[in-house]
Amino acid sequence: MGHTLKFDCNGVDWNEAAEVFVRAPLGMRIPGRLKKAFEASHTVCFAYHGETLIGLGRAISDGVYQAAIYDLCILPEYQGQGLGNGMMKAILDKLDVEHVILYSVPGKEAFYEKLGFSRMLTAMSCHRDPSKLIAGGYIES
Ligand SMILES: CC(C)(COP(=O)(O)OP(=O)(O)OC[C@H]1O[C@@H](n2cnc3c(N)ncnc32)[C@H](O)[C@@H]1OP(=O)(O)O)[C@@H](O)C(=O)NCCC(=O)NCCS
Repeated sequence: MGHTLKFDCNGVDWNEAAEVFVRAPLGMRIPGRLKKAFEASHTVCFAYHGETLIGLGRAISDGVYQAAIYDLCILPEYQGQGLGNGMMKAILDKLDVEHVILYSVPGKEAFYEKLGFSRMLTAMSCHRDPSKLIAGGYIES
């Protein structure tokens, strides 16, 4: 059975979605907050194997100039088979904008470079709790 991609939030089980984050792993998410974030996003992508949710990702965007991709994660047993690449291409295809940014999990940069992403030289960020990002290797203290 092949994978199916879905581009709306209808029928998504948000407990199942939070479980994909944990198992990928990409961290803990509260199902209700995950639902709110995905429903407020410009583009969402859900990958299914049969009825099972195996991956998801999303982008926020102004629809003209800028977009940012977040939360791409796939169950471990489905990683390394081209699904992440296919989901990224599908999300990018729906973002008709001039600039797309994201921040990679440390060590995953090559995955995005293969999709045409470059390292940014002047990226800046501001966080409610920077300690988590320092510990995760995203920003300097
Ligand atoms: C990162 C992730 C989304 C990649 O999806 P995937 O389905 O495993 O990746 P693909 O099989 O589509 O790989 C596409 C290409 O990127 C390469 N690639 C994938 N992960 C890589 C990594 N960690 N480092 C270097 N290259 C990588 C693959 O080798 C492949 O190259 P090829 O086309 O030359 O064969 C997936 O592994 C995942 O969910 N990881 C856990 C959560 C996470 O870190 N998400 C990223 C948030 S920024």
